[in-house]
Amino acid sequence: MELEQQLDEAERAVARAGAPTPRVGVILGSGLGAFGDQLSELIKLPYSAIPHMPTSSVVGHAGNLCLGSVASVPVACLQGRVHLYEGHGLDRVTFGARLLQRIGCRAVLITNAAGGIQAQLSPGDLMLITDHLNLTARNPLIGPNPEGFPRFPDMTTAYDAQLCEAGRRAAREVDAPLREGVYAALLGPSYETPAEIRMLRTLGADAVGMSTVVEVLVLRHRGVRVGAMSCITNLAAGLSDSLLDHAEVEEIARQTHTRFVSVLSRWVELTGELVSA
Ligand code: HPA
Repeated sequence: MELEQQLDEAERAVARAGAPTPRVGVILGSGLGAFGDQLSELIKLPYSAIPHMPTSSVVGHAGNLCLGSVASVPVACLQGRVHLYEGHGLDRVTFGARLLQRIGCRAVLITNAAGGIQAQLSPGDLMLITDHLNLTARNPLIGPNPEGFPRFPDMTTAYDAQLCEAGRRAAREVDAPLREGVYAALLGPSYETPAEIRMLRTLGADAVGMSTVVEVLVLRHRGVRVGAMSCITNLAAGLSDSLLDHAEVEEIARQTHTRFVSVLSRWVELTGELVSA
């Protein structure tokens, strides 16, 4: 079945849940799942109840679409995402992001865990993503182009200036320090070598991770405004004395969770004002 028909079916399944039309979408990264459970008037749809929605095999990634609101902004939240390194195709990995657009989201805020490359970054820092390097050698827009969307979408404004400004303001208002930088996405699942990290730094990357950019591409293609923020969970390979370990990445994400959730809640609220104006 074609992707757009799959999306039709998924959209109908979500509509049956009867939630108000969401205007802001949120994609939650490692260790941030609990944000979804804190929505008001929460309706939780397991991915298994949504046709064609893939489920993640990674520990720490629950699979639910959470519908509800934050400060009266109707929100749809992907609690758990699938990654390219799990072996899923691009259509699967980006299905949830495309679905967010289908069900009404005009802006999507994306979060992830990332390794810090820029010298100022420390574990536990939050970093606003201002641009990206797509080093996955994948592009989810390859293939037939659905009608009504551009064949060659612009990426000059991939990370929406007003949403970036709202992210900065949200962090300021809740007293959370916020860094900024360029996110480089690699396929994974192995972490990088120290030589690769030196290469990424030369290329202009401030942080490195294994998600987000393919979702950004499909959202921008569909005209959805995007903001993104990383939780820096570790220094990238070779920049500290320790080896990289997923359990540690999760632990730092968990420790940063409260601060990240405060920023995200306020960011959603400010985003809601922007997209309903
Ligand atoms: N590299 C890639 N992905 C990551 C890292 C890293 O150092 N930390 C968290 N996700």
